[in-house]
Amino acid sequence: MDTATDISVELLMNSENPEEVLRNMQPFINLMMYYECALMEIETKLKVLNTEFALRNNRNPFESIKCRLKKPISIVEKMRKKKLDMTIDNIENNLTDIAGIRVICSFPEDIYILSELLSKQDDINVVCVKDYIRNPKPNGYRSLHLIVEVPIFLSDEKRYMKVEVQFRTIAMDFWASLDHKLKYKKDNLKHPEIIAQELKKCADTITAMDYKMQEIRNMLEE
Ligand code: GTP
Ligand code: MG
Repeated sequence: MDTATDISVELLMNSENPEEVLRNMQPFINLMMYYECALMEIETKLKVLNTEFALRNNRNPFESIKCRLKKPISIVEKMRKKKLDMTIDNIENNLTDIAGIRVICSFPEDIYILSELLSKQDDINVVCVKDYIRNPKPNGYRSLHLIVEVPIFLSDEKRYMKVEVQFRTIAMDFWASLDHKLKYKKDNLKHPEIIAQELKKCADTITAMDYKMQEIRNMLEE
């Protein structure tokens, strides 16, 4: 994961006046540090749920968890695309995916169990839910996306920060990584539409498999 410190080093390396760059960048570096703290809060909450669930039910609801901070260059690109001035307030009010967490579960049911347990915690505000599992994208993409606000406690203030949490199964994640490659390479492919069709078929196969595996697991646990 890029830390707030990595970002400042990156900027300083290419500057003739590092002091000035640092002074100008401080509010941005602070903002990134807040997002980093928010990621830690959500990661811990999910790990606590995982540990407790494992004790009670003898299995882990998620297999892995990945945190990422959006790269400064991607923040600039997205702000440009949205035609917004690069101010700290604008960044914070208009981008919801600076702090991102991806939670990879074995079974679809566990996605809903975990997301509900997280959402109902009394310090969490759910800002937005996009359920691409119940309503898959036309290309076959499936995942559950939540935008949540979590408080971070600094020495002199309590600050709510937004975090994008993506829940998906191992199979959905496998599919999404290949689909991501298609997005990047589309323009250089001879027949992108054929690949997209094949990917869509895979998405359907994977969905059937996810639910079949869940059925088997539930039979094993009966
Ligand atoms: P972005 O501006 O791309 O962040 O999308 P959005 O604001 O419309 O939000 P959405 O919840 O639809 O997507 C957020 C993120 O989900 C993306 O940045 C991707 O990481 C992932 N995602 C959404 N759609 C797809 C898709 O079709 N394929 C893959 N591989 N990932 C997707
Ligand atoms: Mg995004």
